[in-house]
Amino acid sequence: MYWSQYLGLLALVPFQIRCVATHPSPTPRRELYSPLIAPKVQAIAETEPNPANYPQYTDRTQGIWEYFTPTTWTSGFFPALLYLLDTRSKLCPSLNQPDWLSMGRDWSVGLVPLEDNKNLDHDVGFLSYPFQQELLVNPANTSAQTAITKFASTLAARFNPTVGCTRSWDSADPTDFVVIIDNMMNLEVLFAAADINGNHTLRDIAITHADTTIANHFRPDGSTFHVVEYNSTTGGVIRRRTAQGYADNSTWTRGQSWAIYGYANMYNRTHFPRYLGTARHAASMYLSRLPASGVPPWDFDAPRPGPADTSSATIAASGLLLLSQLENSLSPPNRTGALFWRDAAVNLLNAATELAWKPSWQSLLSNGTVNNPANPPNNLTGIVYGDYFYIKAGNTLLSQGLAKCQPP
Ligand SMILES: *[C@@H]1O[C@H](CO)[C@@H](O)[C@H](O)[C@H]1NC(C)=O
Ligand SMILES: *[C@@H]1O[C@H](CO)[C@@H](O)[C@H](O)[C@H]1NC(C)=O
Ligand SMILES: *[C@@H]1O[C@H](CO)[C@@H](O)[C@H](O)[C@H]1NC(C)=O
Ligand SMILES: *[C@@H]1O[C@H](CO)[C@@H](O)[C@H](O)[C@H]1NC(C)=O
Ligand SMILES: *[C@@H]1O[C@H](CO)[C@@H](O)[C@H](O)[C@H]1NC(C)=O
Ligand SMILES: *[C@@H]1O[C@H](CO)[C@@H](O)[C@H](O)[C@H]1NC(C)=O
Ligand SMILES: *[C@@H]1O[C@H](CO)[C@@H](O)[C@H](O)[C@H]1NC(C)=O
Ligand SMILES: *[C@@H]1O[C@H](CO)[C@@H](O)[C@H](O)[C@H]1NC(C)=O
Repeated sequence: MYWSQYLGLLALVPFQIRCVATHPSPTPRRELYSPLIAPKVQAIAETEPNPANYPQYTDRTQGIWEYFTPTTWTSGFFPALLYLLDTRSKLCPSLNQPDWLSMGRDWSVGLVPLEDNKNLDHDVGFLSYPFQQELLVNPANTSAQTAITKFASTLAARFNPTVGCTRSWDSADPTDFVVIIDNMMNLEVLFAAADINGNHTLRDIAITHADTTIANHFRPDGSTFHVVEYNSTTGGVIRRRTAQGYADNSTWTRGQSWAIYGYANMYNRTHFPRYLGTARHAASMYLSRLPASGVPPWDFDAPRPGPADTSSATIAASGLLLLSQLENSLSPPNRTGALFWRDAAVNLLNAATELAWKPSWQSLLSNGTVNNPANPPNNLTGIVYGDYFYIKAGNTLLSQGLAKCQPP
């Protein structure tokens, strides 16, 4: 039963009771913990390409993964997903699971050479995910520690103090300094590295980047531009535009999800109130623009009907669950806020599941949009990071006792 159906029932209840009754929280749909997940992922894990290549998105009709070279920004997600399933098997010890940890470690080996690759861009943060997961299992693994500290120095080398940001993509004109909202997600590797080597400069870079991005990427309503171009000699903003969104002044929904998650993470790492405020504002804007289906379109301002983006939904859901935990960690705890974000996260996961759960596809979900302005447009596929954040959100609900390993 969905919350909207409860509203119908509530109409039958006397007014006084309605005023004191709290909203029933939505229950996560059973597919989030489906027994189909393990064999599907295991089948891919056991057919590891040699040389290493990594699934990124599927075709549009049969849901077969397409593979990309290790330097692609998405290469860390599948290995990291295997680690998430290891975490899930520990949260659900009664389930008989394959050895996800060994598979995650095997699939990470092809990423190790990247730590010395000087041609990678800001997405070293995403590439570091499996190594961050490894340290949760074995904090003493020096190979994972080295990968994280080297990826962090690569990102730090892209920092320009005049601009106050790390550079996302390189441009033909070196004074044209491009920063995308996605970069907020990559700052975590700087904190993770500082935890390992104690280098506070890395942490300061993350904070400066996040502050500059608050000043220049956000609109007054909490929505975000995808791209801000700075002049690297003057630090001034040259223009604000889109790359993967519908229009320069529209809101690309996945970018907004990165913003929610990225600022919630900044608050977790620093406890600076401005980051909590920014995460809340970005999240309120996102939820206020969702269509009746509850699944975000690929851009909030694109003509409807148009393709959905379930990866935006699962990233936002993971970010909202983090935000929910942070509201609960305040002193005194903000229980109302925590419950609000958690229910919104479950609603997003349920809506994405209802639209896009695909037992016959290699991905868990369909209806993801990788890049709609591309030629040809790339929409309505499975996407590896959509699946990654789907499992991550499911794990967070389990670890908080809000979901069951095997729903009835
Ligand atoms: C340490 O981490 C690396 C990279 O994540 C992994 O490939 C390796 O198997 C791990 N080593 C041990 C001894 O667990
Ligand atoms: C800390 O990190 C910064 C950025 O990578 C680097 O320039 C600096 O040399 C590092 N400091 C130390 C003491 O290693
Ligand atoms: C940045 O500013 C400098 C100095 O004003 C100028 O020469 C350069 O063309 C500018 N770069 C861009 C990309 O606008
Ligand atoms: C974007 O700008 C164009 C031209 O100024 C305007 O027509 C359109 O309504 C704007 N869209 C949004 C979402 O602000
Ligand atoms: C918050 O940050 C701490 C480190 O400061 C980390 O251990 C913890 O896992 C983070 N919490 C979440 C939910 O990411
Ligand atoms: C979901 O994907 C299917 C194809 O798999 C498509 O027919 C449908 O229109 C999509 N719905 C949305 C809202 O994107
Ligand atoms: C609790 O959280 C909600 C949602 O983030 C927020 O609007 C409200 O101001 C918060 N209350 C307190 C006391 O922090
Ligand atoms: C979705 O992608 C298909 C295939 O590239 C394309 O033909 C279609 O125009 C796209 N849909 C929209 C609304 O852009």
